[in-house]
Formats: sequence, structure tokens, C-alpha cells
Amino acid sequence: MPMRSLWTITATALLASLCLITTPAAPRAQELNAHEFTTPLDIRMGERLFQQQCGRCHGIDAGGGELGPDLTSGYRTVSTDAGLFDIIRNGLPNSQMIGISRASTDQSVWMVVSYLNSLNETPDVNLPGNATNGEQLFAGKGNCSSCHMVNGQGGRRGQDLSRVGERRDPDELRSDLQNPDEEVPPRWWTLRVTRQDGSVVQGLRMGEDTFSMRIMDADENLWSFAKDSVQSYERITASTMPATGRTLTSSELDDLIAYLYSLRREES
Ligand code: HEC
Ligand code: HEC
Repeated sequence: MPMRSLWTITATALLASLCLITTPAAPRAQELNAHEFTTPLDIRMGERLFQQQCGRCHGIDAGGGELGPDLTSGYRTVSTDAGLFDIIRNGLPNSQMIGISRASTDQSVWMVVSYLNSLNETPDVNLPGNATNGEQLFAGKGNCSSCHMVNGQGGRRGQDLSRVGERRDPDELRSDLQNPDEEVPPRWWTLRVTRQDGSVVQGLRMGEDTFSMRIMDADENLWSFAKDSVQSYERITASTMPATGRTLTSSELDDLIAYLYSLRREES
């Protein structure tokens, strides 16, 4: 019996070392894509490794440093766990990004992958866009923040989007941006009121009942009217949101979607 188990051990060891020699590194990363090193303990180990080997460039909490980019809000160069594994294992060509020490095991690399995933709010979905660029578009060229509030910053002429990633999936977000006139909730209809003197006030329909209506105009002024005191009024069910999504490039659109989808309650 002892003889036999010794043989088994030797054979297994031999096989294992053979595998090590013959299996090339890159495909192995792909095969292990659904890796197992995702427990809280793995993540803590990954964090320790990160602090030791990566923190001096990427910042001790991966939030970015002078020598390396922020790794907490999506990646520019990779979109899959296997891709992340390869970058951490091998570094990036022609860059300061040198990767993990050669002595580190694959298991350690996966732990770092799990740690980085735990910092990114949307670990399960790999979107093509870059959330950081999307954030810039949102406040800048896209002009979205003139109407939408995110975490207390922005306008009130559209929904507060601070947690929009919890209620809309990426496909729905794409359609929100490209076809705003579809499914406009009554809260976001427009009322166009003509007063007795013929002047017109138009704005978002904040409230309406049998006798009265309240609207908010483009400058965020609130108005309220008794229905029997106006000459006429009209409901417009189209959206006031411009279809900016159709004029952006497809990668800008991807970036915006990645950003919007990342907007969730902070997990702590
Ligand atoms: C000597 C500095 C340095 C060290 C050490 C370093 N990195 Fe980097 N890393 C960089 C730089 C610079 C880039 C950007 C390279 C580029 O985009 O060309 C980068 C890019 C990356 C990216 C891709 C980011 C993206 O947006 O696509 C990942 C992921 C990454 N590093 C992870 C790590 C991990 C994990 C470690 C530790 C094992 C590490 N890095 C160690 C400098 C460093
Ligand atoms: C003129 C004001 C205005 C601007 C500018 C604007 N929006 Fe909107 N947005 C609205 C209104 C009003 C709605 C609600 C009606 C609708 O669904 O179209 C809305 C709806 C949305 C929704 C759906 C929200 C939900 O909870 O279902 C998203 C996502 C969105 N906007 C993102 C954006 C982005 C990204 C931009 C910039 C490219 C932008 N909006 C620019 C007014 C605006």
C-alpha cells in the first residue's frame, strides 16, 4: 500500500511538472477565466499583494498615483478577467506597467484580479466603454448635468441619476440616450399654458389635478395655475431630453453608458 501511494504522488508530481512545462501561459489564463479565488479572504490577500507590488505607482488604494492610473473605475485596455490577468502577469509593452513579480503564483495574480474587481462597482458586467471618460462627457460636452443631478451636482430638469445603474441595464440606458421620446413617464411630460393675456408658460409637469397644475420652466422656476384661470393648456408627452445619444460617436456613447451603469449606491 505505501508503495502504491508513493507512486501516485510521484506520478501526480511528474504530471504537474509536465503541465507546467508544456502549457503556454496565455491560454491558461483564458481557461481559468471562471476562477475560484473570489472569497473575502482572497480579496484581502489580493489587496496586500497590491499594496506591496503595485501601490507605489497606482496608489496604495488603487485610486491612481503619479506613476500609474486609477484602477477603481474601469480599465482602458482590458475588459475581461483573463485580460486583466495577462496584464498583471506580463505587464504592458512599451510602458511603465511592469506587472507582478515573476515569483508570484497564478493564484496570487487571480487574488489581485479579485481585489481590483471588488473596487470596481460593476464587477460582473464587462462593458466596452470607459466610465471615467463617460463622467467627463456627462459634465462636459454631453451637457447632461445641466438637467441631471449626480450625487448632489447638476440640474433638476431630469431625473436624479445618482443610482441609475440600479434601475436601468446597459441596453435600456442606450435606448434612453438614443430614443428619449419612448416611454416618457407622465412626471416628465411638458405642460404648455396660455394665460388670459395670451402669454405662454411652458415647463415640466410637476403636478396636475382636476383644478390646478404646477410646472417648472427651463430656468427651474416653479409656476402654479388654476385651470379655470387660464385661456388654455396642452400636454406634450414627448421628452424634453435632446437625443444627444445619436450625435455622439459610438465610443463616446459606450463611455457614457459605462459611466451611467456604474452609478450605484456606495457599497461599504
Ligand atoms: C512602475 C509603475 C507600475 C507598477 C509597479 C505597476 N503598474 Fe500597472 N500601470 C502602470 C502604468 C504607467 C500603466 C498605464 C500603462 C499604459 O496605459 O500604457 C499601468 C496600467 C495598468 C493596468 C491597465 C489599466 C487600464 O486602464 O487599462 C492595470 C490593470 C494595472 N496597471 C495593474 C497593475 C497591478 C495589479 C500591478 C501590481 C502587480 C501594477 N499595475 C504595477 C504603472 C505601474
Ligand atoms: C434638457 C434636459 C436634459 C438633458 C440636457 C439631458 N436629459 Fe436625460 N432626461 C431628461 C428628462 C426630462 C428625462 C425623463 C424623460 C425621458 O425619459 O426622456 C431624461 C431621462 C434620462 C434617462 C433615463 C432615466 C431613468 O431613470 O429612466 C437617462 C439615463 C438620461 N436621461 C441620461 C442623460 C444623459 C447621459 C444626457 C447627456 C448626454 C442627458 N440625459 C441629457 C432631461 C435631459
